[in-house]
Amino acid sequence: MKKITINASTSYDILVGKGLLNKCGELIKPIVKSHKCAIVTDDIVNDLYGYNVVQRLESSGFNVVKFVVPNGETSKSHEQLIKIYNFLSENDITRSDFIIALGGGVVGDLTGFCAASYLRGIDYVQIPTTLLAQVDSSVGGKTAVNIDAGKNLVGAFKQPVLVIADTDVLSTLSDEIFADGMGEVIKYGMIRSKSLFNKLCQENAHDMLEDIITECISIKRDVVEVDEHDTGERMILNFGHTFGHAIEKYIGYGKISHGKAVAIGMYLITNSAEKQGLINSGTAEKLKKCLNVNSLPCSIDISADKLYSLSIEDKKRTSDTIRIILCTDVGKCIIKTLTLNEYRKFLEFI
Ligand SMILES: NC(=O)c1ccc[n+]([C@@H]2O[C@H](COP(=O)([O-])OP(=O)(O)OC[C@H]3O[C@@H](n4cnc5c(N)ncnc54)[C@H](O)[C@@H]3O)[C@@H](O)[C@H]2O)c1
Repeated sequence: MKKITINASTSYDILVGKGLLNKCGELIKPIVKSHKCAIVTDDIVNDLYGYNVVQRLESSGFNVVKFVVPNGETSKSHEQLIKIYNFLSENDITRSDFIIALGGGVVGDLTGFCAASYLRGIDYVQIPTTLLAQVDSSVGGKTAVNIDAGKNLVGAFKQPVLVIADTDVLSTLSDEIFADGMGEVIKYGMIRSKSLFNKLCQENAHDMLEDIITECISIKRDVVEVDEHDTGERMILNFGHTFGHAIEKYIGYGKISHGKAVAIGMYLITNSAEKQGLINSGTAEKLKKCLNVNSLPCSIDISADKLYSLSIEDKKRTSDTIRIILCTDVGKCIIKTLTLNEYRKFLEFI
């Protein structure tokens, strides 16, 4: 088992390794103040792991209740949030008790926001069960639900008290959902680690899960520790996401996975930057090969105009400028601020 400590506004450990679900009771016990907890999970994860987690917690002396949401992005909603608040209240979950998010990024974001807001804040533990959730969404304390105007527009920063990433649970992911997480893993290689990137091009990720997950979390830790509230450097984690979000909107949420959209976004921005001589030549080709090896796409039929109009809709953008992340080489990135006019010109090279 590997342990990474995050020193943000609060400190907590992230444990990564095989067989950790079976030890969740004993791992959580020294961290929390109460013997009472509520698990939030989705129906698929519940069928696979819900029973085991409840058993392990109960045998460590915890009193456990469980709330199951339907799987999928639509559960990151106010409707589900209100249902969970009521469930917690009906089951007398008090401020000294805690919540467990057992699932992928959807369950993690929903439960995290619930923990940030229920009784003005209650402890929560993340047990991420997708690759994306283990390397990204369970780390760093961003929580949110979606509203009609867009994804993640209502949320809070709330760090968990513990993260338990059991690599065994990734064996039940479909190839598609696993590949989705690989999009984020490749992103970490591109922005910060040439050695991780090279490994991902040459070896089967399934054979080195503990190592690559630990390396990704360590990169995210380094970024989050200097910019917890996303006012500067944390932006580099958005490499490929400005175009990725635009592509998701263009194709339709749910019709293309987030990981595939980000993979295409990373390639398009890199290829465009390379054509303009802004980054080292050959970078786009290396990225393309790595994406292909990991069953991820790198192109889509979308016009520069469409990409422009959809990407400037981003509500987190400042008024007259847009900040983009460019990888000047594998493992190195910069943040570049462009006026909207310059951004439109940048897109003409796509
Ligand atoms: N908070 C953050 O910093 C952050 C970062 C990146 C993404 N996100 C959010 O994460 C969400 C996407 O997360 P995701 O990709 O994990 O999606 P998800 O939570 O919807 O999980 C994908 C699917 O996999 C299933 N699943 C989960 N674990 C499984 C397992 N072990 N075996 C089999 N099936 C399993 C789920 O039931 C679901 O159907 C988005 O809402 C995104 O906005 C948040």
